[in-house]
Amino acid sequence: MSYTICLIPGDGIGCEVIAAAREVLEAINLPARFVEAEAGWSTFERHGVALPDETLAAAQQADATLLGAVGSPSRRVTGYSSPVVALRKALDLYACVRPVSTPPLPGARQGIDLVVIRENTEGFYSGCEASDGVRATALRVVTRAASERIARFALSYARRHNRRRITIVHKANILRESCGLFRSTALEVLAEAAPILVDELLVDTAAYELVRAPERLDIVLTTNLFGDILSDAASAWGGGLGLAASANIGPATAIFEPVHGSAPDIAGRGIANPLAAITAAAMLLDYLGEVERGDRVRAAIAKLLRSGPHTPDLGGSATTAEVTQAIVRYVSRDI
Ligand code: NAI
Ligand code: MG
Repeated sequence: MSYTICLIPGDGIGCEVIAAAREVLEAINLPARFVEAEAGWSTFERHGVALPDETLAAAQQADATLLGAVGSPSRRVTGYSSPVVALRKALDLYACVRPVSTPPLPGARQGIDLVVIRENTEGFYSGCEASDGVRATALRVVTRAASERIARFALSYARRHNRRRITIVHKANILRESCGLFRSTALEVLAEAAPILVDELLVDTAAYELVRAPERLDIVLTTNLFGDILSDAASAWGGGLGLAASANIGPATAIFEPVHGSAPDIAGRGIANPLAAITAAAMLLDYLGEVERGDRVRAAIAKLLRSGPHTPDLGGSATTAEVTQAIVRYVSRDI
C-alpha cells in the first residue's frame, strides 16, 4: 500500500515548514509518493492564477494534502482570491478541526485540552462580497444542510475521541437568522449526544471564557469566521502559532496545515518553527490510519519541547533545520 501525498508549500515560511514536514514523513518510512504542487501569491504573480487547475487536480487525486501557508494581500487585487478558501470549497472540506492542549513547556497553563471544530465552507467566507466604494456588503450564508453536517461531524468526533462536552458557539441574540439557524440545527442534531454534554455560549462570552478559563472548554462547535478567530486565540495556550495545526476534512480527501500564515516578518531567515507543520503531518498520518506513525511523530515533538532545541518563538535560538534534524533523529531512533 503506497499513499499519494500532495504537498503545497505556498508562500513565505510555508515553503520552509513543508520541506521540514516532508523530511519527517520520509524519516518514518511512510510508503508514500509525494506530489509537489503550487498555489498562493507567488503563483499568482507568476501565472496570474492563485490556484492552478493542476494543483486542484493533484489535491483531488491525493489521499491527503499537506499545505504550508499562502500570503494574501489585504488590499483588493483584481483576479486574486485565497486559494485556501477555494480548495476548501472545491474539495468540500466542510470540517475544520483545530486541537489545542497544554504543551510540555515550562510555565504553560495546565489542564487545557480543547478542540475548535468549525464549519469550513460557508458563513462569512462564502465569497459573496460587493462594494461600490461607498458601501460594502458581505453575505453570510448559513444553510441547514451544512450546519447539520458539521454538528454530526462534531458528535462523531466527540464519540471517537472520548470527549465529554460540546459547546455550540454563536451570536444568535444579534444574528437571529444566520446564527439562529446554525444554533437550532446543531441543537437538534446534538439532542442524541448523551452522555456527551451539550451547552452553548455567545461568541463574545466564548472569547472571554477562552482567556479566563480555557481548561473548562472541550469541543467548541462554531461557524467559519468565529472558529477562525477563536482557534488562533486558543493556539496561544498551546504554545503559540508555531505549534498549532489544523485539519480540513471532506468526504473524499483532506488537507492538513499549520494554523499560521506565511509570516513575511521572518520568511527566508530559516527560523520558522516547523512543529506546527510537523504536527499537521501527524494529523495527516492519523487520517490515513497510520496512527502508530502519528503517535511516534507526536512523541518526538513532546520530547523536543521538553528538552529543546527551540526556535525563537519558543524563546530559543535554534533554526528550522536544527529543530527538524532533532525530530528526524528522535523518530528514526524509535523505528
Ligand atoms: P502569520 O501567522 O503569518 O504570522 C503571525 C505572527 O506569528 C508573526 O509574527 C509570525 O512571525 C509569527 N509566526 C507565525 N508562524 C510562525 C512559525 N511557524 N514560527 C515562528 N513564528 C511564527 O499571520 P499574519 O502575519 O497575520 O499573516 C501573514 C500572511 O499569511 C497574510 O498574507 C495572511 O493572509 C496569510 N495567512 C495565510 C494563512 C493560510 O494560508 N492558511 C493563515 C493565516 C494567514
Ligand atoms: Mg486563521
